[in-house]
Amino acid sequence: MSNLWKTKSLSSLLASAEDSEKGLKRTLSAASLVALGIGAIIGAGLFSLTGIAAADNAGPAVVYSFILAALGCAFAGLCYAEFASMIPVAGSAYTYSYATMGEFMAWIIGWDLVLEYALGAATVAASWSQYVAKFMLSFGVTLPVSLLHGPWDVIVDANGVSSTPGILNLPAILIICLLSLLLIKGTKESALINNILVILKVTVVLVFIALGWGFINPANHTPFIPINQGEVLMDQGKMGFFEFFQSDYFGHYGWSGILRGAGVVFFAFIGFDAVSTAAQEAKNPQKGMPIGIIGSLIICTILYVLFSYVLTGLENYVNFKGDASPVTTAFAKTGYTFLNSALTIAIIAGYTSVMLVMLMGQSRVFYSMSVDGLLPKFFSDLHKTSQTPWKTNVAFMIFVSLFAGFVPVSDLGHMVSIGTLFAFSLVCIGVIVMRKTNPDAVRGFRVPFVPLLPILGVIICVALMAGLPKESWERLAIWLAIGLVVYFVYSKKHSKLNNDN
Ligand code: ALA
Repeated sequence: MSNLWKTKSLSSLLASAEDSEKGLKRTLSAASLVALGIGAIIGAGLFSLTGIAAADNAGPAVVYSFILAALGCAFAGLCYAEFASMIPVAGSAYTYSYATMGEFMAWIIGWDLVLEYALGAATVAASWSQYVAKFMLSFGVTLPVSLLHGPWDVIVDANGVSSTPGILNLPAILIICLLSLLLIKGTKESALINNILVILKVTVVLVFIALGWGFINPANHTPFIPINQGEVLMDQGKMGFFEFFQSDYFGHYGWSGILRGAGVVFFAFIGFDAVSTAAQEAKNPQKGMPIGIIGSLIICTILYVLFSYVLTGLENYVNFKGDASPVTTAFAKTGYTFLNSALTIAIIAGYTSVMLVMLMGQSRVFYSMSVDGLLPKFFSDLHKTSQTPWKTNVAFMIFVSLFAGFVPVSDLGHMVSIGTLFAFSLVCIGVIVMRKTNPDAVRGFRVPFVPLLPILGVIICVALMAGLPKESWERLAIWLAIGLVVYFVYSKKHSKLNNDN
């Protein structure tokens, strides 16, 4: 009789890490790990969703949304750091939950990570194409709008909202196919290339902040927290909280807008957990992992807060509605528009590294699940010459392309955020469980104040999830329901852990 809650033992995980050390070289220093984190973190969340969250939810107070989201990530980040310094093997959250909460939860988290990695890549691709279009335009080449947007996108033209629907987001599909083919070929980002991309990305952010600061128009920051009519009605006693929560007022400006905005820009922090997938390649994982995870989070938070302050100061937030490339829109308000092309190239390059890491992370998770028997062997078949899980790459090339080509970027972003927040909550809970089940195991880093901090992490993640639109919850539920069917029809019967003894 198979057991849903059976856990992988810590000693067997550590033994498998030692085994794989024969193949993997421990080359990444703490600094390279921080760079890896920043490489996977800064992307569409900052360069695209900041404007959308400001226009739809928080106004200039998107700055506060960033701080709130960073707080949620900090607690989850500490928990990831403890796990990564304790179980330095690939597989990240999926592996941690297999060791703490058993196979069923591991399955849920592995399945859920598709939302983070696969749909994350789709989201970045969808917004990448808007920057590519702007870049081409600067050379006088106009890409047809209908080939830059899926049929459900809200397309904003010079006169407001365009009534012509898009057909598909072609550049998004092309970049996903290209990157997937690169991954199949075995092209790996070396730490050096990643470092160069990171320097490029961080430079763009710093240049934007430094040059934009002098052009901030205080009128754009007034009021800093736009008024939410529903909150006013509540203050006047004309509306109850529950009614407000259910109404369209909730999440559109005011404090609830900051909360919902945090759920949206949370996307900008996603990727710090990718550092933990490199645990087997870290020189000194006990020290390097916590520095890599927490360090990249701190640096990104500082950059994000300053960046969003300047962005909303340069251009009025209402003008970012439906604008997936707000950086160039805002930068037009400075006297340095000749830098637009350089800025755009760096952003495009930065997005590319995020997509590559996400697509790679996705294939690693499905590969691990397949090795454990929870998914068909197909997903862990390696290519004869390149040694890459190429069938997984092809499957996700198709899956991700479809989402990138046809689903609006904000819907995608919400899905990714809710899926990742769910995974983070489970990792926080996992730390508490692990402290009980393996109190004496060696931990290179310990989350302080357990269980308080992990519990706070769960509360913030769930609060951010609560701020996301109802449809995201429904989609999460549908995705998990499909996962349950797959688990009970296939995975449970084929699980190696459950069938080996
Ligand atoms: N954090 C990554 C981005 O914003 C996913 O693109």
